[in-house]
Amino acid sequence: MSRVGVCCLLFFFVSVCYWLPVICYANGKVTKACGNMEPHHGVPGQTTQSPYHLAANTTTFSPGDHIEVTLSGTSYFEGFLLQGRDAVNPDSVSTVGTFNLTDHKRTQLLTCNNQQCVKNCSVALFILDISSEVYLHFFRVTVVAHYNVFWVKLPGPIVYKHGVTPRPPHSTTTPPPDPTTTPSILPGPFVSDGCGQSKSCLLDPPGCDPKEDVDCFFLSFVTFELSGPAEGYVGFALSWDTWMGNDDVYMCVKDGNRVSVSAAFLSGRTSPEDQTQAGLSSMSWRLADGVIQCRFSRPVKLSNQEPGRYDLDQKYFLFLASGNALYGRVWKHNRQPLISTHRKNITGPPEILRGSRGPMIMKMHGALMLLAWMLTGSIGTIIASFYKPDWPNQTLLGQKVWFQVHRGLMVLTVILTTLAFCLPFFYRKGWSKHAGVHPYLGCCVLALSLTQPMIAVFRPSPDSDRRYLFNWVHWAVGSVTELMAVAAMFLGIRQSSLLLPSPWSSHVLIGYITWLALIRLILLVQKHFCIKRCTKTLIKLFVNS
Ligand SMILES: *[C@@H]1O[C@H](CO)[C@@H](O)[C@H](O)[C@H]1NC(C)=O
Ligand SMILES: *[C@@H]1O[C@H](CO)[C@@H](O)[C@H](O)[C@H]1NC(C)=O
Ligand SMILES: *[C@@H]1O[C@H](CO)[C@@H](O)[C@H](O)[C@H]1NC(C)=O
Ligand SMILES: *[C@@H]1O[C@H](CO)[C@@H](O)[C@H](O)[C@H]1NC(C)=O
Repeated sequence: MSRVGVCCLLFFFVSVCYWLPVICYANGKVTKACGNMEPHHGVPGQTTQSPYHLAANTTTFSPGDHIEVTLSGTSYFEGFLLQGRDAVNPDSVSTVGTFNLTDHKRTQLLTCNNQQCVKNCSVALFILDISSEVYLHFFRVTVVAHYNVFWVKLPGPIVYKHGVTPRPPHSTTTPPPDPTTTPSILPGPFVSDGCGQSKSCLLDPPGCDPKEDVDCFFLSFVTFELSGPAEGYVGFALSWDTWMGNDDVYMCVKDGNRVSVSAAFLSGRTSPEDQTQAGLSSMSWRLADGVIQCRFSRPVKLSNQEPGRYDLDQKYFLFLASGNALYGRVWKHNRQPLISTHRKNITGPPEILRGSRGPMIMKMHGALMLLAWMLTGSIGTIIASFYKPDWPNQTLLGQKVWFQVHRGLMVLTVILTTLAFCLPFFYRKGWSKHAGVHPYLGCCVLALSLTQPMIAVFRPSPDSDRRYLFNWVHWAVGSVTELMAVAAMFLGIRQSSLLLPSPWSSHVLIGYITWLALIRLILLVQKHFCIKRCTKTLIKLFVNS
């Protein structure tokens, strides 16, 4: 604890983590905020009087003493960063002391059930082991009330070492916040006139006009203009590939009745980190009819001080996303982002770009699965169920015809299923939390599909006593797999990444499954009818001879 404490002390994002797990801070964030105590949330800190108060239970200390520091406030807060510093040398690199929570139960008090803390919010910590050289010690704290509402470096109490005459403390006033350009309000909506001639545009649906059409998602550049219907934010990303992660992101986030424009870096499939306005200029925005619009410029190249800002004279895939936001913090997009069909040089010649919200790899997954379970799998099953008595005297590669066809089609089904199964994992780079039961069903289908050939390999010979057992198990496992595959298909075609037209795709699937079931029923009736007829013929032959 002590070495960790040297840098940074404590950074608690206590309450939010539990109702918003998606946007929780990665641990690495803490060290980044330590130096200047800035939370990097894309907006400057509040300059008004804060509703928080930091207090210590003593004014004097001896080395090794425990001092209790309490942060209290009349208003809810999400998190804070507390530092102890040498008041004589407040800007030295190192901080002093180590913190420990006095009462984990009281910290739990912060996990208020709703967003508003009705009661007094407070958290107590104690500091111990202030090194002996430090004789004047002060605390300071950054408190985050909500994502974009925070106070930086609020001065706290000062404690003196025993026997040291109190001196006027070093100034601990907060430095004035960085001057930021206030975005202006756009006079009217963007227009798609000039797309492909004077500017490059990405439009969804293709050919829409943001001036007329409130459902139009619009991005144009080199001066970036972004517009789209959204609850909380619209944003775009410059990406080297068609996967989320390692992207340079720009967002227009609605915050009450205004919009803030910021840039950020998306390192993984989490929410953007280090929102900043550095490097952005001529920002303006407009809110009307549920459409968020914003415009800004940025230099083609930015200095190394802006890591994560990509040069604009390179080719990138463009992502267009929208979704919800709360207190300026963006949530995961609620639709698949629109991804441009090819990479575009941002400063290159004007062009009208097209995009797709359905990633090719997910469409391949759907297509292969449908092929496996609506075609090869069903035909293979029908062959085994109804066509065994046919071609009694012919063989195919040394085996009965029905068996060769059945085995071939079923092996193909298993191969297609395995192949298709891997694709979403390759695309998502992990398990998708948002796909519901579908992936679980998929796992079952794959597992059962793989057991079928194994059961078949170890089957007893046709004249064995236990052959009926194999027949029964093989049929039962096959039927269960097929039923699960049908259920998985119904859930799968509704996945947003496939972008199939909603009621129609289900109707087509219902139609096809009904047809298959009907065919089987007819074949079943015919089979039993045939058995009866054949038996009769046999009995006749027997009786006559
Ligand atoms: C302050 O709190 C710490 C920790 O609870 C305790 O050890 C210490 O005695 C307290 N100091 C005073 C002066 O009450
Ligand atoms: C911090 O507090 C916990 C429990 O309150 C205790 O187990 C732990 O030893 C303390 N750590 C230090 C460095 O005092
Ligand atoms: C909140 O707590 C602080 C410190 O414990 C106290 O001074 C203040 O009176 C409390 N406010 C309310 C409204 O309880
Ligand atoms: C992008 O376009 C700019 C301006 O036309 C050009 O200077 C640059 O070389 C291009 N970059 C690539 C990677 O083609």
